[in-house]
Amino acid sequence: MLVCLGNICRSPTAEGVLRAIAQRDAPGLFGSIDSAGTANYHIGEPPDSRSIAAAARRGYDIGGLRARQIDVSDFRRFDLLLAMDRSNLAALGHLAPRAKADRAQLFLSYASTAGQFDVPDPYYGGPEDFERVIDLCELAARGLISALSR
Ligand code: 4NP
Repeated sequence: MLVCLGNICRSPTAEGVLRAIAQRDAPGLFGSIDSAGTANYHIGEPPDSRSIAAAARRGYDIGGLRARQIDVSDFRRFDLLLAMDRSNLAALGHLAPRAKADRAQLFLSYASTAGQFDVPDPYYGGPEDFERVIDLCELAARGLISALSR
C-alpha cells in the first residue's frame, strides 16, 4: 500500500510505477498493490492531470486509478504501508493498531541512493517536480523489489 496526502499525485504514481516494474521484473512477488491518501480531499478523483501526463511520458498508465482514503483495515489487508513522506508516516502512526505499527514505513527507505527521506509534494510545483516523483518512485520500487526478493 503506497500512501501520500491526497492520493492524486505521489502515491498513484508510485502504485503505477511499482506495478509496472514488478510485472516485468518480479511477477508474483506482490499479492496486491494499491494506494491511498491520509486526507479525504480528493476521494473518487482520478490522479492529477500533471501526474497522469508525467507518468505517460515515462511509459506508465495511471489514468484509471481513483483516489481513496487510508483506513485502519488497510493495516490488516497489507503487509507494508509505505508513506511518501515523514508527515504521512506520522499520520499512519496515529492510525495504526499497535501490533501492526511496524507495517508503516517510508517508501524512500528502499531507495538508498536517493539521498532523501521524502518524495516532495509536487502539487504546487512545476513539470520537473512531477518528473522527479517518477525518478524517486522508480528507485524505491527497484529497491523494494530487491529487498523483498532476498
Ligand atoms: P499528493 O499531493 O499527496 O501527492 O496526492 C497532493 C494533492 C493534493 C493536495 C496536497 C497534496 N491538496 O492539498 O489538495
